[in-house]
Amino acid sequence: MIIKKAKIRGRDGLFDIKIENGMIVEVAPHIAARGDEAIDVDGRLVMPTFIDMHFHLDSVLTIGEPRFNQSGTLLEGIEIWSEYKKKLTIEDIVNRSRKALMLMVSYGTTRIRTHADVTEKNLTTLKGLLEVKRLFKDLVDIQITAFPQDGILTELENIELLEKAIELGADNVGMIPHLEYTREDGVKSIEIAFEIAKKYDRDIDGHVDETDDEQSRFLEVVAAKTIKEGYMGRVTAGHTTAMHSYNDAYADKLYRILRKAEITIVPNPLINIHLQGRYDRYPKRRGLTRIKELLMNGVNVALGHDCIMDPWYPLGRGDMMQVLFMAVHVAQMMGYNELIRSFDLITVNAAKALRIESMYGVDKGKKADLVVLDAFNEIEALAYLKRPLYVIKNGMIVSERNIEEVKVVDPVSRKPAVLDERVLK
Ligand code: FE2
Repeated sequence: MIIKKAKIRGRDGLFDIKIENGMIVEVAPHIAARGDEAIDVDGRLVMPTFIDMHFHLDSVLTIGEPRFNQSGTLLEGIEIWSEYKKKLTIEDIVNRSRKALMLMVSYGTTRIRTHADVTEKNLTTLKGLLEVKRLFKDLVDIQITAFPQDGILTELENIELLEKAIELGADNVGMIPHLEYTREDGVKSIEIAFEIAKKYDRDIDGHVDETDDEQSRFLEVVAAKTIKEGYMGRVTAGHTTAMHSYNDAYADKLYRILRKAEITIVPNPLINIHLQGRYDRYPKRRGLTRIKELLMNGVNVALGHDCIMDPWYPLGRGDMMQVLFMAVHVAQMMGYNELIRSFDLITVNAAKALRIESMYGVDKGKKADLVVLDAFNEIEALAYLKRPLYVIKNGMIVSERNIEEVKVVDPVSRKPAVLDERVLK
């Protein structure tokens, strides 16, 4: 397969991309092709497929079961989920995940890090997601984080369940220190997560400081532990919304140790803006971690979708560009260069966190996991949020749609005319 006339981020001019056996074998201004093997994308943006660094496949698409979240709060979401998960089956997880993954692939995501709640005694969520990972491996690369939703130290068996989940095949060790009963337990839970991670040589992927409480300071503990254990580059911290409320002097100290620890911060803008600030009267805090400042201070940041139509988030369509759209608004990253660079948050920064940079990108020798956007530049891509034209995984087209033609009455000629959406030259 040869993709003709592709616009590649950061490069001038248009390129042809030749794909063989699931790999990109050549990128050049012109590559000869037979008609049946060429896709002419006529100057559209081609990127490596998007990466979703934080997702909950086990609860996906359960909205309304057994009831709707009426308050829209994190805590009501946890209550509803604890009711739902009592009747969870592997088949149910596989069916919902299948639907959600097809949706996500259609929007250009082919790599996902999902959490599996491992505080349920029978570990059905984990077993279900291991099955999902196996069944859908040609469509999506899935990593599973063993996630102690209710805390590691809130119940005696939870440590054992976390370790068992790793033994059964979970990829990463999770934690949720801010939800433990005390600060001391929170610190201890981080130590336990590291102990298990080291024992089984796994990465750490925590929910950290997902609260508006400015006193919640577990991220510094995670960073310090990472440095002491020599775990640099192997730890991600999700949400970290408390950072929004820290004072600047403390935040500045934090940036430094985060950089040293090579921790990746994973904000989930759709969910954070929906769930945080709920205890505030006006003015209300945005409750999103400091994406712009973290990046300016050399800390790696990659985004997660977190939820789609579940007890915590009633909307979502599996579109990482929609996640990015929310991020650039709330973090006020709308300068021209910021918008252009913002796509790093759903592509290369995530690849760095997953340590797959050597195989990720639009270049010779990289994996042919590519998305052809229905846009000619980053600005119009984010403005119109269209579904991609093609999504390619391992060199195979796994999602495609026709270019749509929209006709609108032209106010000058008063006749229907094809809508021209191009703005930037
Ligand atoms: Fe989460």
